[in-house]
Amino acid sequence: MEPIDHVGIAVHTLAEAVPFYEALLGEPPTGRETVEDEGVCVAFFGRGAGRVELLEPTDADSAIGRFLTRHGPGLHHICLTVPDLEAALDRGRVAGAEVLAPGIRVGAEGSRVAFIHPRSTGGVLLELREEPRAADP
Ligand code: CO
Repeated sequence: MEPIDHVGIAVHTLAEAVPFYEALLGEPPTGRETVEDEGVCVAFFGRGAGRVELLEPTDADSAIGRFLTRHGPGLHHICLTVPDLEAALDRGRVAGAEVLAPGIRVGAEGSRVAFIHPRSTGGVLLELREEPRAADP
């Protein structure tokens, strides 16, 4: 198993950050999208496990907007892959994980995700992403 799906990095603007990462990695983003519910525009580099996700807020009051105000740009979350999100959250809650409201939601790339508060994880905001099932396209 490869537990790290991607790392999420908060940036002020994709217009500035994408060319920088493109220069470092030698290839353009493999995907870009706006996740309206999260108030964020994202760009992904790479494919499969270990991608880099750049996150730009669409408004200052979104989660990423507030993060930037408080901390400035930087590492925002690490996303771990789990085979069954409900089971992972059930086990996690028993182990003390504080799942952020509203719980399971649809994130980037149409995947089912949930976030776990850093105060219950040792200081890192965790995103859990359910592996697409075999029957999914
Ligand atoms: Co993410």
